[in-house]
Amino acid sequence: MAPEVSAKKRVLVVGGGTMGQGIALACVLAGHECVVSDLAAALPRVRAGAEQFLAGRLEKGKLSPDEHAQASGRIRVEEGLAAASSADWIVEAIVESLEPKRKLFAELEARKKPGAVLCSNTSSLGITAIAAGLRDPAAVLGLHFFNPATAMQLVEVVRTGFTEQATLDAAVAFVRSLGKKPVVVKDTPGFVVNRVARSFPLESLRIVTEGVATPEQVDRIMRLGAGFKMGPFELMDLVGIDINLAVTQSVYRAFFEEPRFRPSIVQQELVDAGRLGRKTGRGFYAYERKEGGK
Ligand code: NAI
Repeated sequence: MAPEVSAKKRVLVVGGGTMGQGIALACVLAGHECVVSDLAAALPRVRAGAEQFLAGRLEKGKLSPDEHAQASGRIRVEEGLAAASSADWIVEAIVESLEPKRKLFAELEARKKPGAVLCSNTSSLGITAIAAGLRDPAAVLGLHFFNPATAMQLVEVVRTGFTEQATLDAAVAFVRSLGKKPVVVKDTPGFVVNRVARSFPLESLRIVTEGVATPEQVDRIMRLGAGFKMGPFELMDLVGIDINLAVTQSVYRAFFEEPRFRPSIVQQELVDAGRLGRKTGRGFYAYERKEGGK
């Protein structure tokens, strides 16, 4: 039986980084209860990030003191997967790598209650590959949120050959309950957005390595001339150069090394140098480090 559309849910988000934190905040702002699970060392950062975000909403008058207190009371940050046994929705947002995700899904499947849905926020890995090998792959689907997850409207709801219609309908209703717009897509490398969007950073990186223009110039041109809110280099800094490289590598491999998806050496150099974008204070641009930031 598909869950009620309006019912408040218990959500477990595993991985409280850029995306997990945003997804958890979108859930509590919509009235759901949310536990964010991360590694012990990351817990202070995850807590500080969530508190900072909600305090900012209060300061800007987007939340009343009462709403702020309620939203703060609905989010809990902890280590481990104990919350999996009572969650209705489990959203994984850990590192973009297949083996850790598969291991985590096996653990979550063993702990989850019947009827709970296991979702991955992967940008580029196959949902089918994550689900295969589980006892009940029909309970797995992709919920691909975009950064920043509190603000971005689109969520790609990714179905595999295992997915049942009732699960898909429940996922669409859950995404709508967050005030977001679900679009159902079939499992395919990069889904729709990240496949189409590969050429935005990659072609821009080629332009820079050919010496045609600087990152600043390309960003300005794409904002002023093409109507993008952010240029490709600003966007890569926001997403994280490491995440962007991982997505590019994954789509490249998945399309049997199709040359148009080949990663750039510049992405690898920045990752090797630890210049991962906003989250480390430096990527293509330099940023002021925030207290509690990575
Ligand atoms: P991130 O590096 O900011 O955060 C990952 C978090 O997971 C960290 O807090 C880390 O401590 C935690 N973690 C790692 N292993 C864990 C485990 N076994 N158990 C619990 N926590 C664990 O990464 P980000 O950017 O949030 O990405 C997460 C996922 O979302 C990736 O699959 C990525 O491809 C996807 N994604 C990222 C987007 C972006 O713009 N950054 C956009 C859409 C999807």
